[in-house]
Amino acid sequence: MHALASTAGHTREALHEELLGQARALFTGERDPLANSANLAALLYHTLPDLNWAGFYWMKAGELVLGPFQGKPACVRIAVGRGVCGTAVARRAAIVVPDVHAFPGHIACDSASESEVVVPVLRGGEVLGVLDLDSPRQGRFDEADARALERLAALLVESSDFD
Ligand code: SME
Repeated sequence: MHALASTAGHTREALHEELLGQARALFTGERDPLANSANLAALLYHTLPDLNWAGFYWMKAGELVLGPFQGKPACVRIAVGRGVCGTAVARRAAIVVPDVHAFPGHIACDSASESEVVVPVLRGGEVLGVLDLDSPRQGRFDEADARALERLAALLVESSDFD
């Protein structure tokens, strides 16, 4: 049983490093992508402050399909180019949205969401899916958060046997 370490009082950089270390520990000895992505969603949701949703969408037959997550039930399928998630896939790049109401085409799964960050989960040049975090607080995420999530997504991919 993995005990979540206390992260109270951490600087943001220290929190990001702590998350990487905890993710590495969770993935040790396990290469199942469903198990590892489910644990990473839970780790993020229960470690980072001010989140109302954290999870994955996976590319299946050309569209994003809901994967493991923590938070309220969410929309299941998102076309590439639609919403923040589908736009991150189309651009193959992270997107930080300080105010979801100002993002054209934002898909509201939980009306509590005010800001969002989405990073693509990449294997080489291939987009496997996205990691999506929502917050009830405007401006919750910045580029440093996006870089940390990209590192976590890369760690997930190198630690798991994706199809
Ligand atoms: N807001 C996302 C949809 C997924 S939910 O936030 C969980 C989007 O616009 O793509």
